[in-house]
Amino acid sequence: MADKVFPIADLRSALPAPPAPFTAAPNGLLSDRLGRPLRDLRISVTDRCNFRCGYCMPKEVFGRNYQFLPQQALLSFEETTRLARLFAAHGVRKLRLTGGEPLLRKNVETLVGMLAALRTADGEPMDLTLTTNASLLSRKAQALKDAGLQRVTVSLDAIDDAVFRRMNDVDFAVADVLAGIEAAQRVGLGPIKVNMVVRRGTNDHEILAMARHFRGTGVVLRFIEYMDVGSTNGWRMDHVLPSAEVLARIDAEHPLEPLAPSQPGETAERWRYRDGGGEIGLISSVTQAFCGDCNRARLSTEGKLFLCLFASRGHDLRALLRGGATDEALSAAIGGAWGARDDRYSELRAQLPADAAEPGFRKVEMHYIGG
Ligand code: GTP
Ligand code: 5AD
Ligand code: SF4
Ligand code: SF4
Repeated sequence: MADKVFPIADLRSALPAPPAPFTAAPNGLLSDRLGRPLRDLRISVTDRCNFRCGYCMPKEVFGRNYQFLPQQALLSFEETTRLARLFAAHGVRKLRLTGGEPLLRKNVETLVGMLAALRTADGEPMDLTLTTNASLLSRKAQALKDAGLQRVTVSLDAIDDAVFRRMNDVDFAVADVLAGIEAAQRVGLGPIKVNMVVRRGTNDHEILAMARHFRGTGVVLRFIEYMDVGSTNGWRMDHVLPSAEVLARIDAEHPLEPLAPSQPGETAERWRYRDGGGEIGLISSVTQAFCGDCNRARLSTEGKLFLCLFASRGHDLRALLRGGATDEALSAAIGGAWGARDDRYSELRAQLPADAAEPGFRKVEMHYIGG
């Protein structure tokens, strides 16, 4: 069957100019229109992935004829590092590389090395991390560690091999993901987090098995409510299993107690096993939106700045970079964009009735800006 025609390219080429002029506060740090600082920059280094998870890159859309971005469209490592340095001066302390699958980007460890040399506005090393499906992690863990990566987060939606193979839709085995996690542990890329997107009816029966598997291993397992990101995954509210239910199911077998947040604006609510079996996290952006202190910006593979995971357009920083903009001009554009920001999509979504149609704009796809 021919692949469906899907006008996602239109979205990727929407190019509003960043708002300017902009005057930074005397300390150079930023605050958006809701008083939120900028702390976390998530950089997508490729729009490709070797998995076809149905909720992210369904095969009928991302088939053989799907046109991914050409090489020259991607930010070079030098362009990415230059932008990251300017973001750091504006208050960013955490850098996360994402994709698609970031380990598919050729020589990504070279970029890691360049980013590892950056410092925060206070002169501290950055928190430098990467989200991966772990398919290439066994091979790459040592090189990533040597280049200066601090930790990794692995996406894994089931511990049962058949369920996992069905969900990644490319017949990839759980054992190979687990080998990647072990390699990362061995070379010191911890604390390792594992992210499980819970989709009711697809993998919610795997919650306890996942919890049992990772208890006592030092890996922090986090359960993510299935979100209405993008427009290709046919999201419905009845696919969401509220985190409260995840908590109840685990607590019934292994009693849990809450932990204080480790950072302001965190995505996950932290819990620990009362018997010392370690920590888990609940990421509840559908039932308990956490936009109130959202400090995350996203840089797409081709250099667009997205101010919300659910935004439909990004500010084109690549056009400025390649048009010869000075550091001052780029910095002003970043500041102007953040200063004008008032996004809080998940909070607004939560105010709609559960069966409401999705708000009438097309959202960016997750494989293109990362999670
Ligand atoms: P740590 O620093 O390791 O705790 O990472 P993190 O939780 O900040 O980032 P991660 O990429 O691991 O986020 C986990 C998941 O939370 C993502 O895959 C998304 O599903 C969701 N998520 C992350 N950031 C946001 C956000 O800003 N808004 C919403 N709605 N969901 C988010
Ligand atoms: N809901 C929640 N998280 C998602 N991710 C991708 N799509 C969704 C969705 N619909 C996140 C997952 C995955 C990462 C790459 O992006 O955490 O592991
Ligand atoms: Fe699956 Fe992550 Fe790849 Fe999307 S980017 S298809 S969620 S492995
Ligand atoms: Fe931040 Fe947007 Fe996510 Fe809210 S929905 S937490 S504003 S990225």
